[in-house]
Amino acid sequence: MNPKDRIKELQQELTHAQYLYYVKDAPTMSDFEYDKKYRELVDLETAYPEYIVPSSPTQRVGMKVEGSFEKVVHGRPMLSLSNVFNADEVRAFASRVEKELGHKPSAYVVELKIDGLAVNLHYENGMFVRAVTRGDGRVGGEDVTANVRTIKSIPLYLENAPEFIEVRGEAYMPHSEFKRINEERDEEGGLPTFVNPRNAAAGSLRQQDPAITASRNLAFFAYAIGSEEGASIHSQEELLKSLENFKFSVNPHYRVCQTIDEVIETINYWEEKRHDLPYDTDGMVIKVNSFDDQEALGSTAKDPKWATAYKYPPEEVETILKDITINVGRTGVLTLLVSLNLYSCLVQM
Ligand code: IVH
Repeated sequence: MNPKDRIKELQQELTHAQYLYYVKDAPTMSDFEYDKKYRELVDLETAYPEYIVPSSPTQRVGMKVEGSFEKVVHGRPMLSLSNVFNADEVRAFASRVEKELGHKPSAYVVELKIDGLAVNLHYENGMFVRAVTRGDGRVGGEDVTANVRTIKSIPLYLENAPEFIEVRGEAYMPHSEFKRINEERDEEGGLPTFVNPRNAAAGSLRQQDPAITASRNLAFFAYAIGSEEGASIHSQEELLKSLENFKFSVNPHYRVCQTIDEVIETINYWEEKRHDLPYDTDGMVIKVNSFDDQEALGSTAKDPKWATAYKYPPEEVETILKDITINVGRTGVLTLLVSLNLYSCLVQM
């Protein structure tokens, strides 16, 4: 096979292997095989740089960027969400929706609210060209393209994509990575540890050196589109399916609910269950499914009227440390009695 065709073949094979590994969580190629092919591709691309394409798996980690991150205006504002805190407020939200529409929406989509950072990805003719943080929602998002490219579950090229599309979703840090990075910072560097996965993700996206971001192994769930030209999608359910077809990682736990009782049941189910997930969630998002209904409902200056976020009570609370009593056991086990002004806890070391 000539070098040009072999390069193309390897680029496609490795892109697919990355997709199976990072998006589907079902790798079919061994690490050994992957590394061998990756090395072959790097060698060939070094010898024939004219065949390097920006979507090649070798092009994820770029050069260090100097200076501050450029501010970018969003094609369509990145809105925030109104909040509800209990079942009554969910019903009140649904009543408002029905009243304004003049009919019951045929369905709601309930999704996990991922606790990360909203990022807007721009694709031109299928090519990933830019990634911008939400910032204040309208102007003031930051261009974090070089860092977001390193997130391996984000496709660098979309097959059969419209001419232009903005894909929105949440960049987040899985628990396993958060733990690994904090242990490493603590043990090796004596560096301050990150408070929570969201802060760690935010810090990782604001690095000057994409190699550092790459080493943090962030992940991404897609859940919305911004402006687009040429896509024809009619509902949130269809949208999630087309994002999956574009090979984005879409959170699998969304549910299409026909009634508000089902919505509430789903929220209750996840209140406890969410602690078993390998990433942080801080609530659920309830969305009117039909895009026609969404358009009819419109938005306020801040939030869409067709969606709301159900917030679970926070796990992190601020408190005051009152006292620590240390008890040394017979076998040398230390037990600390930590008294806080809200409650006490026992810590065994
Ligand atoms: S939809 C206009 N869906 O929550 C619709 N947002 O408080 C806007 N978020 O800025 C967003 N998971 O960062 C949506 N499944 C999900 C989400 C989600 C997390 C975040 C997002 C947004 C914030 C709003």
